[in-house]
Amino acid sequence: MVEIVFGKLALPKDGVLVLPVGEGLPLSGEASVLDEKQGGSLSKAMETAEFTGKSGQSLNLYNVGAYKRVILIGTGKANAPRRAELLGAAIAAALGKETEAAILAIGFTAEQAAEIGLGARLRSYKFDKYRTTQKPEEKTRLKKLKLLTVVQKDADSAWEIAKSVATGVEFTRDLVTEPANVLYPAEFAERVEGLKKLGLKIEVFGQKELEKLGFGTLLSVSQGSVREPRMVVMQWLGASGNGEDKKKKPKDPLVFVGKGVTFDTGGISLKPAAGMEDMKWDMAGAGTVAGLMCALAGRKAKVDAVGLIGLVENMPSGSATRPGDVVTSHAGKTVEILNTDAEGRLVLADVLYYAQQRFAPKFMVNLATLTGAIIVGLGHEYAGMFSNSDELVGKLTASGEAVGEKLWRMPLSKEGEGYDKEIDSAIADVKNIGGGRAGGSITAAQFLQRFVNNTPWAHLDIAGMAWCAKDAGVNPKGATAFGVRLLDHFTRGFE
Ligand code: BES
Ligand code: MN
Ligand code: ZN
Repeated sequence: MVEIVFGKLALPKDGVLVLPVGEGLPLSGEASVLDEKQGGSLSKAMETAEFTGKSGQSLNLYNVGAYKRVILIGTGKANAPRRAELLGAAIAAALGKETEAAILAIGFTAEQAAEIGLGARLRSYKFDKYRTTQKPEEKTRLKKLKLLTVVQKDADSAWEIAKSVATGVEFTRDLVTEPANVLYPAEFAERVEGLKKLGLKIEVFGQKELEKLGFGTLLSVSQGSVREPRMVVMQWLGASGNGEDKKKKPKDPLVFVGKGVTFDTGGISLKPAAGMEDMKWDMAGAGTVAGLMCALAGRKAKVDAVGLIGLVENMPSGSATRPGDVVTSHAGKTVEILNTDAEGRLVLADVLYYAQQRFAPKFMVNLATLTGAIIVGLGHEYAGMFSNSDELVGKLTASGEAVGEKLWRMPLSKEGEGYDKEIDSAIADVKNIGGGRAGGSITAAQFLQRFVNNTPWAHLDIAGMAWCAKDAGVNPKGATAFGVRLLDHFTRGFE
């Protein structure tokens, strides 16, 4: 993991130096001092290479005076959204195999300096614990990044907060990347229990406890697996006061619920072999909730928040649920399971209902890699958002824009109307799939809504966003932790 440090604004003696340059602007401050010292060779190189400072542009110069390498990097227009964070990510990418570098952060505020650090750290994330042939020194490349700034002290404190968010994102990415033979429900729960050290109150429910609670839909998914299910409840009482009083309850909390299918084979409605390995990250919703709670506790957010995750493995076996089975949910509603591959909604139904009964949320947001259909509809640009509350939609949309984790609202019918009628069952209260493939993401959302009372609620279908096929912005290829930063930002609106 790259260490981010801040220092006084001054030209370092040697090493690797990064110079951010605004679009259409000349070198300024210490950068122009360096240029002068070098007889104008930097500005001449900019001209020759037609380097204009556009975002995404970079220019490498080697052996400049005592510097091994000087990288000029375009920061684009001053008012571009998320400029500093994306600059940090671009710097990390441009540094490639360098282990240490200094950035002349001229003209950036303390918050922006911290954002540069955050972007760089997120982009340089690597998961290489299973590589045995790499030498330790090859494992992480960028080790230390020093931002040189006139606002060092304020940048240090801004970084304390940003760093907690980075740690939360990394916690999520690690969970999402782990293979399913390592990360099964019990192991997932144990890793989350490790967050106790941050002051989170954590409860773990096992098979017996879930049976007692009557979690019939969640258990119907897990029953074909030799791995026992878990539900984990994480409480952060940042407004009511954490600590001593173990009986203290959260007041009007923000509640986050995650789908945690540690592997989704489809069950008896077995998935085709091609691409099935992707289903190791079918727990990304739960991973995101865990990483979010890690971030909130890490930065001591002044808010009451509760995270709940349902953890199961969906396997075919002699004890697995059959298509056509009818089960009774924690809410008391009966569900006809017509496709065992529509399992995420079965897990969420029980956890969502439990969350409302116990915590009376101010707002409830669930995250789930719920449907392939959302990828057909929205691709990999926006996550789908379904909600019964315009207010909540407004807040979430704004947070998504602010951090670059974008949400697109999808339609949802009232119960008994429109799309909702698709999930009426012939023999039970509800069935777990719609009539056909049409509107598959919407009928899934309608199913969840059947288990939501009057709580203002949003469901985020992150199937297209949890994993990325190539490096982009602050995300290296692989697990993105989509939603951690979005919901961290959302939470700040209540502090
Ligand atoms: N976990 C999948 C959805 C998914 C697909 C996530 C691709 C990430 C990438 C979910 O459990 C599922 O299998 N959904 C089915 C629902 C169908 C059976 C109604 C789907 O989308 O095909
Ligand atoms: Mn499935
Ligand atoms: Zn699934």
